[in-house]
Amino acid sequence: MRAIARAQPNIALIKYWGKRDAGRNLPAVGSISVTLAELYTTMCVEYDDTLLDDELIINGQADGGMLPRIQRCLGTVLGARRRPVRVTSQCNFPIAAGLASSASAFAALTVAADALAERKRSTDELASLAGRASGSAARSLYGGFVELENRPRDVSVSSLRAAADWPLQVVVAITATGPKPVGSTEAMEISRKTSPFFERWVEQQPQDLAAAREAIAGRDFSALATVAEHNCLKMHSVMWGSRPPMIYWNSVTLACMQTIRNLQEDGVPVFFTIDAGPQVKAVCTPEAVSQVHVALAETTGVEAVMLSGLGEGAALESTA
Ligand code: PMV
Repeated sequence: MRAIARAQPNIALIKYWGKRDAGRNLPAVGSISVTLAELYTTMCVEYDDTLLDDELIINGQADGGMLPRIQRCLGTVLGARRRPVRVTSQCNFPIAAGLASSASAFAALTVAADALAERKRSTDELASLAGRASGSAARSLYGGFVELENRPRDVSVSSLRAAADWPLQVVVAITATGPKPVGSTEAMEISRKTSPFFERWVEQQPQDLAAAREAIAGRDFSALATVAEHNCLKMHSVMWGSRPPMIYWNSVTLACMQTIRNLQEDGVPVFFTIDAGPQVKAVCTPEAVSQVHVALAETTGVEAVMLSGLGEGAALESTA
């Protein structure tokens, strides 16, 4: 028995940074993201009676390091008493470099494991289970513009607007590959405990969420650009103010931000956002995409540029 699911990563425009309940992995703030179309993770989860223990294969290689996190997620979806499974994951973009590979991985894993268990849970239930493994994974269950609402006891995820309604494009400038120095779970806890800006960050999030919601409802690119850049820089200020400080940027990250500022000065509709990694994600309108792509590819130090439209939420591909 096996089930295969596919999920796309999402890029937060209003960021999730900080947990209010680390045990249940509940976020301290709500967030808004866009789900991508062309980058994806495929997860195959299968029972195999020859297995003595669970097995994880990522892009063709056995991976023991990630296995405990995968097993915890499988435990919540399949239950504690279960047969060993083989999990085979394929990802068409760099893993653990601030490109939300954990979001697409845990969203796809949750959908595949649910199908293997023949549970047929609702998308909301699946989002909540994926979110326990990786907060941002909850958002990859939905397509287009997605809001994760932080409710008193849990979270609720919903789509604010379909991808086809406002087909923005995302250009990702890869400035360095390789795993990040501090994982987001640890980094968020360091920020919560030590950053003098953390409380203000949490306090101000509702107003940024409201501004982004309004901009998305009205397809107001310039309003969305203003609040998204502000929210991103505020999240990084929280990290910079932590002890020890966490600086995910490199000099090429800054060069890409400058490239985007230059494009904005020329009237090009584009804005940047940066997550817990050195890559720069430029969000732009379809008309601007080739100009943004060329400008970032020509920025000194950029290793590669990837392009994606907005896409659908995680989906089951097949069961056998
Ligand atoms: O879901 P996690 O634990 O990988 O954290 C994601 C944190 C950011 O990518 C920096 C922001 C976000 O909302 O995706």
